[in-house]
Amino acid sequence: MAATSRRPIGVAVLGMGNVGTEVVRNLNDKAADLQARVGAPVELRGVAVRDLARPRGAVDSAVLTDDAEALVVRDDIDVVVELIGGIEPPRTLIRTALQAGKSVITANKALMAVHSGELSEAAAASNVDLYFEAAVAGAIPVIRPLTQSLAGDSVNRVAGIVNGTTNYILSEMDETGAAYEDVLAEAVRLGYAEADPTADVEGHDAAAKAAILASIAFHSRVTANDVYCEGISAITADDLVAAKKFDCTVKLLSICERIEADGVEKISARVYPALIPFEHPLATVNGAFNAVVVEAEDAGRLMFYGQGAGGAPTASAVLGDLVMAARNRVNGGRGPLESTYASLPIAPIDDVQTRYYVSMNVADKAGVLEQVAAEFAKRSVSIAAVRQEGAGESARLIVVTHRASDRDQSETVAAIEKMDSVIKVSSVLRLEGTND
Ligand code: HSE
Repeated sequence: MAATSRRPIGVAVLGMGNVGTEVVRNLNDKAADLQARVGAPVELRGVAVRDLARPRGAVDSAVLTDDAEALVVRDDIDVVVELIGGIEPPRTLIRTALQAGKSVITANKALMAVHSGELSEAAAASNVDLYFEAAVAGAIPVIRPLTQSLAGDSVNRVAGIVNGTTNYILSEMDETGAAYEDVLAEAVRLGYAEADPTADVEGHDAAAKAAILASIAFHSRVTANDVYCEGISAITADDLVAAKKFDCTVKLLSICERIEADGVEKISARVYPALIPFEHPLATVNGAFNAVVVEAEDAGRLMFYGQGAGGAPTASAVLGDLVMAARNRVNGGRGPLESTYASLPIAPIDDVQTRYYVSMNVADKAGVLEQVAAEFAKRSVSIAAVRQEGAGESARLIVVTHRASDRDQSETVAAIEKMDSVIKVSSVLRLEGTND
């Protein structure tokens, strides 16, 4: 490999969990290739860990430190790779690194979903890079395609499965008929789900990723608080069986789209479990895999699929960012700037046009179906399909609607819940991926 006379790029890695360990291993094992791709040697000069006493395999103990604050401002560091996770201390460390003129790579979706504005401004002020490909959907390249490949197109919609834990749980429930609680317990036991799975199962992880995707796709600042969010903890095995009868499966979707409400163009960013038809491309994404479907005006529909988590896949995305940032430093300057010029407002969920699947236990007697249908009709929500199961004292009634505003649909459900002949509305899900 041709030697370069360029000054080496010094790298600091913060955090040595699954991803950090893989990044460090790659920096050592692929040093010659990375040098050739960057045009200068890429040297691991510091690794910040919490516990210096813990064995760190092949890592040279001379590069280990427990003083991350000092590491990120050191003169021999050009690029800081933040793999600690959470808001603090990463927020302060990244800001300090950027202000000190270091480029920063992070896989931290929770941080970027809330603080990308201030961090991007700090990066711009120092004329350095802030890259975060690994923050959304692990190994899948989706941030760079949206920011660079599609920079000349208009993205209308980004919809995907961006949380592997919940996709694993829903896939298992679908396949085995097991209850949510049992599949979750097994997923925790096998290490597929965190010991505290709240952020995954309640949709917060997917909402953070939706905020990042929506910001980039629509050139506007969207934070996690702007994302409407429902998780999967209320999904029952019965819902998955019922979905199949409508030729659908259930997935936790992150949806970001441009919508028009009251004559104004807005951004809708939302996360919820939804029925999708078997023939929809996202219906075949099973297990812990992720997929993102992008719809752009000129490009049409693009689909990205792959591993959304795990040490090696996530490290792949981090290394890609690292090579880009290192190249920019070798050549001078920085990559594309954050773009928020469109500043589109956020649409409340009420404004969104959706389809509903409503499952209820009702008294099985004459006139009940008509009364239920009347509540939909009152709010101009058109019914697409009705299915009744069971007979005798009570029956299970499932109504699937055509598209109508979420406001009208949710008001209809609230009214139905109050009806004497409706014993219980057991499940309300949305139906996505159809044109009706
Ligand atoms: N917890 C995430 C998931 C992976 O289950 O997909 C990291 O974003």
